[in-house]
Amino acid sequence: MTSKNNSLQILYFLFRPHRKLLGIYFVSLLVFSLLDVLRVFLIYPLINYGLNINQNSTLIDRIYQSVSFGNLHPFLVYAIVLSIISIIIAGVEVSVSYLGSKTFATVRDTTDRSVFNKLKNRPYEYFASHKQGDILYIGQQAVEQTGLAVFNVVGFLQNILFCLFYLSFIFILSFKISTLMLILGAIYVFFMKNIIFSRIYKHSLVLNRFARAKSVIYNEFISGIKTIFITDSIDFWAGNYNKAVYNIRRSYVFAMILQRLPGAANNLLIFQIIALGAAGLYYITDGHFLPYIGIFGTLLLALYRTIPALNACQSQFGTIVQQLPAIEAVYNFLQENNSESIYLNNVPKKEFRFQNSIIFKNAFFRYNDTQKYTIKNLSFTIKKSTKTAIVGNSGAGKTTIANLLALLYQPTSGEIIIDETNLNEFKHSDYLKRLGYLGQETFIYHDSIKENIRFGLDCNDDEIIEAAKLADAHEFIMSTSEGYETIIGDQGIKLSGGQRQRIAIARIILRKPEILLLDEATSSLDNIAEQRVMESIDRISKDMTVITIAHRLSTVKNADVIYVLREGEIVESGKHDELLELKGEYYNLYNKAPIFSSSSPDLSTKVIC
Ligand SMILES: Nc1ncnc2c1ncn2[C@@H]1O[C@H](COP(=O)(O)OP(=O)(O)O)[C@@H](O)[C@H]1O
Ligand SMILES: [Mg+2]
Repeated sequence: MTSKNNSLQILYFLFRPHRKLLGIYFVSLLVFSLLDVLRVFLIYPLINYGLNINQNSTLIDRIYQSVSFGNLHPFLVYAIVLSIISIIIAGVEVSVSYLGSKTFATVRDTTDRSVFNKLKNRPYEYFASHKQGDILYIGQQAVEQTGLAVFNVVGFLQNILFCLFYLSFIFILSFKISTLMLILGAIYVFFMKNIIFSRIYKHSLVLNRFARAKSVIYNEFISGIKTIFITDSIDFWAGNYNKAVYNIRRSYVFAMILQRLPGAANNLLIFQIIALGAAGLYYITDGHFLPYIGIFGTLLLALYRTIPALNACQSQFGTIVQQLPAIEAVYNFLQENNSESIYLNNVPKKEFRFQNSIIFKNAFFRYNDTQKYTIKNLSFTIKKSTKTAIVGNSGAGKTTIANLLALLYQPTSGEIIIDETNLNEFKHSDYLKRLGYLGQETFIYHDSIKENIRFGLDCNDDEIIEAAKLADAHEFIMSTSEGYETIIGDQGIKLSGGQRQRIAIARIILRKPEILLLDEATSSLDNIAEQRVMESIDRISKDMTVITIAHRLSTVKNADVIYVLREGEIVESGKHDELLELKGEYYNLYNKAPIFSSSSPDLSTKVIC
């Protein structure tokens, strides 16, 4: 197996924080296994005294014969002892199960939390550059599999211990049979390890890859369903999905067969030992096997107790091997360093203050997986309490500027300075509290309208209603079946684009930001909805510093300054009229832009895209 050492390291990593619990569990297992062996130990005198066989050949015979019970018949005494020990074992077994489940649940719980903890501390870039399906896989299937693997490891431990005790017992009972078993066992283990388990691991890796691929396709199908419907490409996606599922099925069948082989081989081995043992006994004793029935019977019972444990051991080991890729995925995820987010933690932080201006100073930016700079040597100023607009063709880098301002990414070089302080030197949460961001899409989650506006903020219901009124959302909220308590989002009622934006505006108002960043906030709306949303924005943003990334020129006409962006560089700046007079880039964009409709004379709906 390629990653055996690694797996031990991973298991150690999973169990390390719970050493104490594991220690207690292990001791309870030890007691349980010992008691169980002792119970089988009592069958031997029962058979011998029952059949009135008087043997003196083994260590066990001598042990039993050294004990006397006065007038009581040993047969009866051993029967009573067996009964008492069985009751004690039942109690111990319940405790062992409890401790086992507790260990499993605790380790699993820690893993779950660690994964989410790690995830929530990842920089935005991590989410943007990884497939959603892969991230989902780690937090869902992989964590689940890891939990099950932990369960299996605990069970495996239990069974190993059980088998070890029984095998030692069988050794004491009959040296010859034990030696035979050990030789067969060694051949068997060699065969299993080199032929079966390494294959199970390889197949599990393949299975894991296919499961991930399926999860990615499934996820893409759901998130892209609208486009998929409209382009009538359902069959194409169904084809992709079927292929992925077929791959999984093939791998599964193989992996499952491999996993079951050890169990089958086990049964064969052990019953062969019993059959050969019986035949051997017959020939060795020349047909007078009765005196040995005590030993033989006890041995059979011991083997019979060992079989299920041995079987379970092997199937658990097989399953653990199968689950290794998932555990490795979780382990690697938890081990990934956070170098990308170092900037979030290592710089001493200041209280956020904003008096004069936000300045981009020779800012360059390149996305991690690209060669080309998206933002090149960008230097411009946004004055406090003014309206600044950024326009440009699609792909010019407008959203990238918004991303930098929203701290989703850091400039590759150059700085963003607020009143002579680098943006990074402020406490990020402090800054983000003062920043209101409204994008093209608004995230609505499955909960009431009220909670969607609150979005985790500590505020009362009156403040929420006040914010909704300012955002022009109160009226439509009251028209829903349960007003502010109406469930929206995934399984709730669907909102129109304009309604969603008004919820988002209410969310922003509640946070009382100083800076408002609008990235094509109305571009997905129709003219009337746009007009209403723009009115709300104008109403709430009177004293704010507003940065509008514009799609429709109507939204930038009144800006104090308009920056025209081309391929990541500012090529023109000024007011609307000045820029038109220049007859340059802005003029071309303005005249090139298609005119949609003009339901309102104030709204020239020219579009730059
Ligand atoms: N996450 C990303 N990874 C790599 N390239 C990106 C990413 N986001 C945007 N880009 C690229 O950066 C350029 C500018 O994109 P963007 O800022 O979204 O433009 P705009 O908002 O002006 O349309 C585009 O060429 C786009 O393909
Ligand atoms: Mg954009």
